[in-house]
Order: sequence, then structure tokens, then C-alpha cells
Amino acid sequence: MAHKDKTALVTGAAGGLGRAIAEEFLRQGANVIICDINKDLISDFKEKVSAAYPECTLVLDCNITDDAAIDDMFEQGEKKFGQIDYVVNNAGIMDRFDPAGEVERETWDRVIALNLTAPTFVTKRAVNLMIKHEIKGSIVNICSIAGIRGFTSGAAYTASKHGLLGLTKNTAAFYGLKNGIRCNAIMAGGMQTNIAAAFQKSGINMEGLGIMRKTFPEDAFAYVEIEKVAKLVLYLCSEEGSIVNGATWTADGGSTAN
Ligand SMILES: NC(=O)c1ccc[n+]([C@@H]2O[C@H](COP(=O)([O-])OP(=O)(O)OC[C@H]3O[C@@H](n4cnc5c(N)ncnc54)[C@H](O)[C@@H]3O)[C@@H](O)[C@H]2O)c1
Repeated sequence: MAHKDKTALVTGAAGGLGRAIAEEFLRQGANVIICDINKDLISDFKEKVSAAYPECTLVLDCNITDDAAIDDMFEQGEKKFGQIDYVVNNAGIMDRFDPAGEVERETWDRVIALNLTAPTFVTKRAVNLMIKHEIKGSIVNICSIAGIRGFTSGAAYTASKHGLLGLTKNTAAFYGLKNGIRCNAIMAGGMQTNIAAAFQKSGINMEGLGIMRKTFPEDAFAYVEIEKVAKLVLYLCSEEGSIVNGATWTADGGSTAN
């Protein structure tokens, strides 16, 4: 129970990787605040996860691209659990594999708003609350190998994850030594989650996807298990992980090793 009596906030955690992270925190004794916008997944989370840990979970229908909703989430979290020790910026969406020459303003704005702007303003609340309660907290940003490579997605997603890496390093540098607040990024490889469901609505740029596949051959690709990525998040939040700050931690099964 390495995280007993600690509280973790995980965004976009009613399903996919975020849910695996929330479940691992609960197994290791932490309280968990989760938010999402998918009402079906929120109900499912309440039924299957919160029911087993009724005192330890706060489940919020919260759109983190809305500043007032982020404020409300932190207020409710502080009210229920007193303090927040860990924040995992997990919520994210894919783009359509459009390169810069084809990207629409709407796609760019939507992807940057969730993948980069929202984590920035969640981090703003997180560091200020941690400082208020003198917590040497940990922030983990769920990035992607798209944050260190140019070929795994379209321009918007790639730029958003490169930006998230910049936010990670800046937060680590500013708050690490001074306040003992750490911030690290996990550059995740492919995971079997609900992330591809959005393609049904947005569509896919097949030419962009085809070019990506040529530069990123299938035999160099392996899915990584979300439960293992979740364990890495918990390590980065643990006392044992306290030597790690500002790190770019690849978790892609070796897809980008070359
Ligand atoms: N699945 C992959 O192959 C992969 C690879 C690398 C990185 N990632 C990253 O992992 C993270 C988790 O994604 P996932 O794969 O579990 O996908 P997912 O779609 O299963 O989970 C993302 C969750 O975020 C929620 N969400 C969307 N918009 C939101 C908003 N405005 N406010 C609050 N919640 C919102 C969704 O409803 C969803 O439940 C993302 O940051 C993603 O970029 C995923």
C-alpha cells in the first residue's frame, strides 16, 4: 500500500489508460479523483470501480478544456480529500493524420485545447494547491512517442505532445528544487484503448496514415499494456521515484529504440 492516504487526480480516466491508472492507485491505497466527459464510461466506472472503493473515489463529469470546470474539479477534490498529492494529465485525443499542409483549423484547435492547453491549466491549479498544502507532489504527463518523433500522427497531435514535453520540463525545472514538486512525461507507444473511436466522427486522412505506416513499419510496432504503463505512473509518484524529475520516460516496447 505504497500510496496509502495519498490522493491522485487523473484526467480522462473513466476508460482507457486513465482508468487503469486510477484502479492501480486505488489498489495501492490512494484516494482517486477522476474526470471524464463520456457519460456511459462514467456510469460504468461508478458501477465497476467506485462501488468497490466508495469512500476513496470522486468521479466528476468535467470537461477539462473549460477553466471553470477545472476550478470546480480542484475545489471538489480539496473539499473531499483535503489535499491532492499526484496529478496525472492523461486525457487526450488523436488527430486525423493530417500533415501541416492539410490540417484544418478546427482539428488543430480541438487537439491543442485538450492535449496541451488543458494540461497546462490543470498543472497551474495542481502546483498552486500543492504549494498551499506544502505537498512535495508528483505530476505525470501522458505523452506519446509522437512527442519525440515526427512520424506517428498528424501535425496537431505531434505538436501537442511535443508541447506537453516542454510543459513537463518547464514545470520540473521551476518547481522541482524550489518546492519539491516533480513532473515527468511518459512517452507511451500504441495501446489498445478507446482512442481510435474518434476516427468514426473525424475520419482519417488515409494518405497521411499511409505515409506514417511506411516510415513506421508494422514489424517495429508492438502494443504496450495499459496496466504496465499504470505501474510506471505509480512508480513516478512514489518515494522510490523521487530521484526522477523532468524525465522523458519511453514506454513503447522498444518501437523507437532505433
Ligand atoms: N492509445 C494509444 O495508442 C496512445 C499512445 C500514446 C499516447 N496515448 C495517450 O494516452 C492518453 C490516454 O488515452 P487513451 O489511449 O486511454 O484514450 P481513450 O480515448 O480511451 O481515453 C481518453 C479519455 O479522455 C476523455 N476525454 C476526452 N475529452 C475530454 C475532456 N475534454 N475532458 C475530460 N476528459 C476527456 C475521453 O472521454 C476518454 O475517456 C492520451 O493522452 C493519449 O494521447 C495513447
